Amino acid sequence: MKILGILASPRKKGNSDILLNEALRAARDSGADTEKLVIYDMDFKGCISCGGCAKTGVCVLKDDMTPLYSKLNSADAVIIAAPIYFAGAPAQLKAMIDRCQSEWVAKYVLKKRKAQNEKRKANGAFICVSGHKEDTLYKFTRKTIEVFFKTMNIDFTEELFFGGAGRAGDIKSIKGALEKAYKSGKDLSGAK
Ligand SMILES: Cc1cc2nc3c(=O)[nH]c(=O)nc-3n(C[C@H](O)[C@H](O)[C@H](O)COP(=O)(O)O)c2cc1C
Repeated sequence: MKILGILASPRKKGNSDILLNEALRAARDSGADTEKLVIYDMDFKGCISCGGCAKTGVCVLKDDMTPLYSKLNSADAVIIAAPIYFAGAPAQLKAMIDRCQSEWVAKYVLKKRKAQNEKRKANGAFICVSGHKEDTLYKFTRKTIEVFFKTMNIDFTEELFFGGAGRAGDIKSIKGALEKAYKSGKDLSGAK
């Protein structure tokens, strides 16, 4: 089993990073192979709506996003760990998701990967943190993730939201947060 962890915060050793590391550690403890991608270290921009994917379902831009498509399509599980930025997904995560417009075209317009997608059994987790405690902003952001997972034929099976974690490392003071992240990595790798 291959689990892909996507860190969507530019803040290394911040709250998303800490939680993602816990989830991936649990996955490895359960025997899964893990790969962590720090998308803020990758060089790509968002969809430029050029229509280049309209006939092929393949994005014409060539950059660090290019190898990410096959990783997203072949992983048995995908974990996205991200903070809330201005009530939504951080820019690089939104750029990654928007670049999957070519996958949306392939699936829904060209029906190109239909057979392959139907066979896919992948699980997805969204781990999210924010400064404010209320979960209103999380609800907006999770919708984007839900649509993204659906496009990629990934079942949205795990979600964790922790508000009240503004400073790097605050998550360590939120009771049970690290344990919940560990459990979600374990559940995701099938070791329920
Ligand atoms: C650009 C930016 C925008 C932010 N917007 C929000 C927001 O709208 N609501 C909120 O509760 N926290 C907001 N925050 C706070 C972060 O969600 C919070 O600091 C979080 O812990 C960052 O996670 P990280 O440690 O994984 O980077 C924002 C932080 C930054 C840097």
